Amino acid sequence: MDAHQYKFTYTIHKDKRMLAPADQSLINEAVMASQRAYAPYSNFKVGVAIRTSDAHVITGANQENGAFPIGQCAERVALYAMIHSAGRVPVDTVAIVVDNKNQKTPASPCGACRQMLNEYRSHQQTPMRLLLTLATGGQVIEINDISDLLPLAFDGSFLGQ
Ligand code: THU
Repeated sequence: MDAHQYKFTYTIHKDKRMLAPADQSLINEAVMASQRAYAPYSNFKVGVAIRTSDAHVITGANQENGAFPIGQCAERVALYAMIHSAGRVPVDTVAIVVDNKNQKTPASPCGACRQMLNEYRSHQQTPMRLLLTLATGGQVIEINDISDLLPLAFDGSFLGQ
């Protein structure tokens, strides 16, 4: 038997004011994006702002549907918008903000969004940072790289990419 252990380190900042100005404004963009969510079924509004390595900011928000499974998470809405408008440039930081009165701590991306974010991460040389917080403020969880949230990930390398 050969047991392996997986550890990762992340940071909790007390408030977004502890962050660099560019990160604070990225969070502000994500807060504004959360107001463009269409979430009449869950009332769980998510806003995402992506900053590319060349400092473009692209946003997205979750879009639900009466046919529940076809709704789309904010992360993927923002990612698709980014690919479409900015091209496949490296992603530097992704701010993810939740606006929901019952949610007291930041939420981290769902499994499908981790997989999707990691797809683009696997094609860039640099980490893809995440900043997770609430629209109402409070703590910011900083994750150094999306790949930290997806150990033993399946990616294109299994398909010879
Ligand atoms: N949601 C996101 O937009 N991102 C996530 O990472 C988790 C969940 C959305 C999907 C749905 O519209 C609502 O939040 C409740 O699950």
